[in-house]
Amino acid sequence: MKYFEKEKLEFIKNKISDINNITILELGVQKGNSTKMFLEVCNKNNGNLTSIDIKDCSSVTEDKRWEFIFSSDDNFEYIDKYIANKRFDVIFIDSYHEPNHVKKVFFHYFSFLKKNGLIFIDDVVWLPYVKNGVEDNDFIERINRLTFDKLLEIFNNNIENLTLDINFNGSGLAILKKTGEKLNKEKKIKNRLFTIKNLIKKFIYSPKPKN
Ligand SMILES: C[S@@+](CC[C@H](N)C(=O)[O-])C[C@H]1O[C@@H](n2cnc3c(N)ncnc32)[C@H](O)[C@@H]1O
Repeated sequence: MKYFEKEKLEFIKNKISDINNITILELGVQKGNSTKMFLEVCNKNNGNLTSIDIKDCSSVTEDKRWEFIFSSDDNFEYIDKYIANKRFDVIFIDSYHEPNHVKKVFFHYFSFLKKNGLIFIDDVVWLPYVKNGVEDNDFIERINRLTFDKLLEIFNNNIENLTLDINFNGSGLAILKKTGEKLNKEKKIKNRLFTIKNLIKKFIYSPKPKN
């Protein structure tokens, strides 16, 4: 596990470690690094963890406080049967890192989150992946940028329903708190940087190079 990934899990753990009888939903298990961290909190705070993965990760742990659902996390008809009567304090989104997928699962599982509950979304920052950056990677730069923009668009039309914080360390982490009951659709953010008026202003007022 990379250094910043350990830091990230520690960061999440600190944010949730005081929630008693905690209930957590995790999307994306893989080798179980986040799963084990969440179970540590569940064992300390008398909680329960439900995790979903498209691959069979059922052997990651035998902890009694864990329920594993072997499914794609957007197979809502199937998954909702398992979680119909549950409401979560914490949801961790770390499965298929594609902006529209993240949006889809975010909107769906939001209704299973308690008021003031937290959603953490992994990998929303692109800085390490830019050209000549420490992790230079064209694909990850693009999907993380697009996921970040998508979150801003969701937040832009939901300031009464959500708070949004971004941790910029490593590949980044979004932290959202549910403050309203229902989400509005995301709303495009208009950018005035490139209007003709502002481009002309920039051209007229930008300092001339000295000879
Ligand atoms: C980045 S890994 C998860 C890492 C884990 N959360 C951790 O911190 O140790 C992503 C996982 O998501 C799973 N995955 C990918 N697409 C998925 C989908 N549509 N539904 C559920 N799981 C998915 C993959 O099988 C993989 O195990």
